[in-house]
Amino acid sequence: MSAVINSPHARDVASILHPMTNPGKHEKDGPLILDEGKGVYVKDLEGNEYIEGMAGLWCTSLGFSNERLIDAAVAQMRKLPTYHTFFHRSNMPAIDLAEKLLSLAPVPMSKVWFANSGSEANDHMIKFVWFYNNALDRPEKKKIIARHEGYHGIAVSSASLTGLPPMHKGFDLPLPGILHTGSAHYYRHGLPGDNEEEFSTRRADEIEALILEEGPETVAAFVAEPVMGAGGAITPPETYFQKIQAVLKKYDILMVADEVITGFFRTGERFACETYGIEPDIIINAKQLSSAYLPISSVMLNEKVYSAIRDYADRNGILGTGFTYSGHPVSAAVALETLKIYDDIDIGNHVKHVSKLAMERLDALNEHPIVGDAKGVGLIGSVELVKDKETKENFGPEIAMWASEACTRRGVILRPCAGIRVAFCPPLIIEDNEIDALFDRWELALDDTLEHVRAQGLM
Ligand SMILES: Cc1ncc(COP(=O)(O)O)c(C=O)c1O
Repeated sequence: MSAVINSPHARDVASILHPMTNPGKHEKDGPLILDEGKGVYVKDLEGNEYIEGMAGLWCTSLGFSNERLIDAAVAQMRKLPTYHTFFHRSNMPAIDLAEKLLSLAPVPMSKVWFANSGSEANDHMIKFVWFYNNALDRPEKKKIIARHEGYHGIAVSSASLTGLPPMHKGFDLPLPGILHTGSAHYYRHGLPGDNEEEFSTRRADEIEALILEEGPETVAAFVAEPVMGAGGAITPPETYFQKIQAVLKKYDILMVADEVITGFFRTGERFACETYGIEPDIIINAKQLSSAYLPISSVMLNEKVYSAIRDYADRNGILGTGFTYSGHPVSAAVALETLKIYDDIDIGNHVKHVSKLAMERLDALNEHPIVGDAKGVGLIGSVELVKDKETKENFGPEIAMWASEACTRRGVILRPCAGIRVAFCPPLIIEDNEIDALFDRWELALDDTLEHVRAQGLM
């Protein structure tokens, strides 16, 4: 790091412990400090401009300068800047937002629980699944099946659902009772000769075998991201969810769709449940719910789950759980405005339109000498960096990191995923010319990476 004493970079290094960052490397290299945003662009402190090809952390759907969201926050701040929803209290933005979410849900839902992050929402999903089975007098039925390479957050319980080893190692996770099954990553885990459907059948069979091994009376829920995010921006293989849902129904196991990344048009449809024919009992949303301008997340429960919870809570006296900021009026007002903007600008049609070019340009990356698999849907996708296209041998995490840093140097922010892929997931408002610029820069960064791996003798 070339930072001078007392520079913002040096002050950052001296004071902040950064999430998902190597602290030792950070002490040497320092931060990239972002200071301004406009549309799909952000600028660092030195004035360098980047296309934010990840919408921050898969979330800033409306870009970095939406005045309507700012106005909605300010107006609500002036009217009622904060209030809680404990003890029968409520506020208008929370009511309007809950109603709106229920009206938009891809399958009938009964109630909305508000939290502040995807991790908190998934933590409460687990609590509700446990409470539901206690309500039904099934105290054994508590295990939750998640997937290797899945990502559901980072608090103790949600990190347990997450299936990425660095998020468990050293933290004494996962918690007991959280099981992991194989991921939906067909390119990486499909057996030679498998087509997508055969791979899906195998995955569904594996889940059934796991349920039988554990005892169906002990398994409560299955949770999945419709498109895996941090695990690599991986789309599901054909018929995957249909096959798994049939197994879950057979053993009375709840289906939970973690739409934290995919909710609100990331795949083109409002919910990826619609894209992939998923019929969940519980839906998790966050991120694009407020375009990430303020923290807010939600857990939608269907009537079957809610009514059991209501009756059991009644027997207990109250539903003994909740956050100070559940249904925070300013976050709710911003989320409500976000949903209105999606309708006003018909963001779904916009995504379907620009996705054509994005997917064409992504598909073309398959021709690059170090790309083994370039795939996506809507406005999310990724490439897997391989030494050998035939054997699919990959370079490992250092090169995925190097490649994403090369993207930053070329003026586009993308990110490494699961140590082998580089993902893109831009603001949904991105236009065709910006998509072209994003991919032009990504191609240059891939060329830089090819040169680097050759220079290192890795290829
Ligand atoms: C699918 C999914 N679920 C949950 C989370 C956790 O959300 P948060 O970081 O807001 O806790 C994330 C975060 O990236 C996510 O991608």
